[in-house]
Amino acid sequence: MTASITGSTPDNHLRDTDFPAGTLRVLQLTDTHLYADPIRTLLGVNTLDTFQQVIRYFRDFHWPLDALLATGDLVHDASPKGYKQIGEILSGFGVPVYCLPGNHDVPPVMREHLRAARVHTTAVMDQGAWRFVMLDSVKPGEEGGHLAPDQLELLDEALATGDRHTLVCMHHQPVDVGSAWIDTMAIDNPGPLFEIIDRHSHVRGILWGHVHQTFDARRGAVRLMSSPSTCVQFTPRQDDFQVDEEPPGFRLLALLPDGRILSEVVRVDEMPQGLDLASGGY
Ligand SMILES: [Fe+2]
Repeated sequence: MTASITGSTPDNHLRDTDFPAGTLRVLQLTDTHLYADPIRTLLGVNTLDTFQQVIRYFRDFHWPLDALLATGDLVHDASPKGYKQIGEILSGFGVPVYCLPGNHDVPPVMREHLRAARVHTTAVMDQGAWRFVMLDSVKPGEEGGHLAPDQLELLDEALATGDRHTLVCMHHQPVDVGSAWIDTMAIDNPGPLFEIIDRHSHVRGILWGHVHQTFDARRGAVRLMSSPSTCVQFTPRQDDFQVDEEPPGFRLLALLPDGRILSEVVRVDEMPQGLDLASGGY
């Protein structure tokens, strides 16, 4: 039987909340789309500028961070220089950083060059009461996503060999987000993914990037979440590609030791400079 997807209520004010001991405070940054050349732009926006703007905005919260998740499209041109640069920036957070590739990344190049202290491209990482499974949903040369047999086996094994609360992360959306154009670029084999997840009751959430917009829902007990890009946004619920006027953002997650997930999307207070709203393609 297919589980239905229902709305989820976003949490608020995580910055001002006291959490129980053992809670992991996690920052998701996604779809940074950096380039080797720091002056290059995506849809009129300098992606390095907005990335740094997002980081400054987050740092002003003084939220005591335990881990960072970077969920793909890290380097738009998949350049070694771009990966080196983002590795250094992410390492600067001083916490473990777990990274996975998106459709604009080239996974072997990313794994070779995204090397910096505390920055990991490993698929399974345990921290406190939680396990993070970082799946590679990239179909080489294509925009859409797919979970190859090795990724499905990896997930099944990661869930079978540990009973920690688990957050499963990937780049592409495993469910439709309601925009026809980008839902043609979702994971094309969600069936086997959910068959595995449904056999393991300790999966608490699935988190992704790719869609450059917020999505927050539940599928049974599993929370489903996507998040704004650190550069340009796509307007939700559109049949055709449309650039959104929303500013860049990020997601905060509080992963409680009892398995609950509290999570909130935060946007910076400035529109990105140079945004090309009339752009017809991405
Ligand atoms: Fe992206």
